[in-house]
Amino acid sequence: MRVLGIAGSPRRAGNTDLLLGEVMRGAASLEAETRTLFLRNLKIAPCDHCDVCLETGRCKILDDMQMVYDEVSRADRLVLASPLHFLGLTAQTKTMVDRFQALWAQKYRIGQPALEKRRARKGLFVSVGARKTSNLFAPAIATVRALFAVLDIKYSGDLLFEGIDEQGAILKNPVAMDQAFIAGQQLIEEMPVK
Ligand SMILES: Cc1cc2nc3c(=O)[nH]c(=O)nc-3n(C[C@H](O)[C@H](O)[C@H](O)COP(=O)(O)O)c2cc1C
Repeated sequence: MRVLGIAGSPRRAGNTDLLLGEVMRGAASLEAETRTLFLRNLKIAPCDHCDVCLETGRCKILDDMQMVYDEVSRADRLVLASPLHFLGLTAQTKTMVDRFQALWAQKYRIGQPALEKRRARKGLFVSVGARKTSNLFAPAIATVRALFAVLDIKYSGDLLFEGIDEQGAILKNPVAMDQAFIAGQQLIEEMPVK
């Protein structure tokens, strides 16, 4: 079982990095093969809406996104971690999400599956925000659900913490790290039917 983590915060060793690390540790504790991509270290250009993908199902921009397509396709589980930035995903994360438009085109225009059709995939969304308001995460969740739907990844749950702002603040939450570790284990407990 391959678990791919995608870290979307621009802040190194920030709150979502810490949570994602624990989710991946939980998955690895049950023998999953894990890999984490840090979007801040990758070169991913924004979608330029050239519409080439509507004809080809592929993105013509040859940058690190090509590797991200491969990694997501090879993964059984996807853990997407992004803090809230202006209520949505970070620019780094949203830039990557928009580039999946090529796989939307592959699925809905070309008529082929977005990803290699070989397993039932599941995904987990990890996020934090500084504020404490009702429905704080709703806009970000809507975007992640839209992405997962295109990729036929089941939205199996989320790990969301409000009132978390300064770097490392999540470590002061008495349950967050344990919850993240357990979420990583739960994510892989059900083996997909081959
Ligand atoms: C550009 C920017 C925009 C932000 N917008 C929001 C927001 O809309 N709502 C919120 O609750 N927190 C917001 N925050 C706070 C971050 O979500 C918070 O600091 C979080 O803990 C950062 O997580 P990280 O350490 O993983 O980067 C924003 C932070 C930045 C830098």
